[in-house]
Amino acid sequence: MGKAIAIDGPSASGKSSVSKGVAAALGFIYVDSGALYRGVTWQAIRKGVNVKDAAAVLECMHNTDWDFFVQEGAAVFSVDGDVPVQELREKEVREAVAHVASVPEIREFVVESLQSLINFGSLVMEGRDIGTVVFPDSPYKFYLDADPEERAMRRYRELVTAGEDEKAHEVMESLKKRDQIDATRKADPLKVAEGAQRIDSTSMTLEDVIQTVMDKVQENV
Ligand code: CDP
Ligand code: CDP
Repeated sequence: MGKAIAIDGPSASGKSSVSKGVAAALGFIYVDSGALYRGVTWQAIRKGVNVKDAAAVLECMHNTDWDFFVQEGAAVFSVDGDVPVQELREKEVREAVAHVASVPEIREFVVESLQSLINFGSLVMEGRDIGTVVFPDSPYKFYLDADPEERAMRRYRELVTAGEDEKAHEVMESLKKRDQIDATRKADPLKVAEGAQRIDSTSMTLEDVIQTVMDKVQENV
């Protein structure tokens, strides 16, 4: 059985950069669990489903053909034969995903799909509930955090670099709103998993955070 390194935390805490770095260093498969919630949301939007209508999104999800595979060291999925990447980052998806991810039956489907990826090999999986729900028995659990202002600034810089016309205060509001939904929802809210190491990266470089995770993992091997 492969190993699963769980990396949870709020938006822009550094989960994906850190997970990719650790996966590359260890030769593990990188998994972005949020992408799957975004995939369900994107599919609903492109099928014209009202994303606030949980039953309709669920039906759309069940009527879709999902397929998982590994490409260049990362887990990827196709949605009715299409592989969305940039599409998952669109504003419409970003603003609806936290609502879609708060539906328990949608979470069940995503959690089971994520668990099955262990059949491909050892994983570094980032998300909100990886250490609490997806791989609760993993000895490798981390909770990344950073001050909300720092996180909003990181996200804002990324959006500006990507050429998006966003206002800093809007990014801050959207991030806070998503944090709030993620931390207070009934189904698998974002919280520090039992046994997880908490890392506050507000004033740490990416390399420092990656090294902290690597040290801990190697200690446990
Ligand atoms: O990149 P960012 O942290 O902003 O978001 P993401 O990881 O792509 O996740 C998008 C949304 O999916 C989050 O705001 C959560 O609502 C949801 N999500 C979740 O509920 N559980 C996970 N394991 C991963 C994401
Ligand atoms: O996956 P998540 O939303 O938690 O965060 P991310 O996409 O990995 O990181 C958001 C941005 O913050 C990226 O542009 C990272 O390069 C940057 N970052 C940073 O400046 N310092 C850190 N210690 C971690 C991330």
